[in-house]
Amino acid sequence: MDPEAKKKALRKIVHGVYVIGVRGEGKLNAFTATWVSQVSFEPPLVMIAVRKASISHQMIEQSKVFVINLLASGQKLLAQHFLKPAHLGGDKLEGIPHRLGVTEAPILQEAAAYLECRVREIHTGGDHSIVIGEVIEAGVQQDVEPLTLKETGWQYGG
Ligand SMILES: Cc1cc2nc3c(=O)[nH]c(=O)nc-3n(C[C@H](O)[C@H](O)[C@H](O)COP(=O)(O)O)c2cc1C
Repeated sequence: MDPEAKKKALRKIVHGVYVIGVRGEGKLNAFTATWVSQVSFEPPLVMIAVRKASISHQMIEQSKVFVINLLASGQKLLAQHFLKPAHLGGDKLEGIPHRLGVTEAPILQEAAAYLECRVREIHTGGDHSIVIGEVIEAGVQQDVEPLTLKETGWQYGG
């Protein structure tokens, strides 16, 4: 396989940009993700791919819940804030208005919409685990256009 072709082709998959809210052992966190998709109508299932080396991965394994915060077009700076790895210290949610949902994971006040999920399965995958969650609560806070990976100019894939 031509590695350049593989990278180029994989980067043609169209993605949105999300902030995944998580909790674990008394702590909250959130991180920016783009590998997100619906995978079933009934029951309503979604998948997120979570980097195994991240703190958020450990937290999802502990609490078995997560929230997909769907960002609005124009919210690149908000997404950028949550790219910072938690292990570099500091609470990424400090100063960012949020509340806890039924899953007790963080819902961002500025998010266009949110999906609260209970983990059904965690597949080993490769360097990211494939986490499948059942949507148990949802809300639309502003019915606007979503933030896309294309709009940010970032790449994650290849
Ligand atoms: C454009 C972009 C998209 C990303 N998408 C994902 C993703 O889908 N899943 C993931 O685990 N990490 C993704 N990341 C990396 C995480 O945002 C990053 O590893 C973050 O530090 C993890 O958060 P934590 O250290 O607080 O757990 C992405 C990074 C960028 C730049």
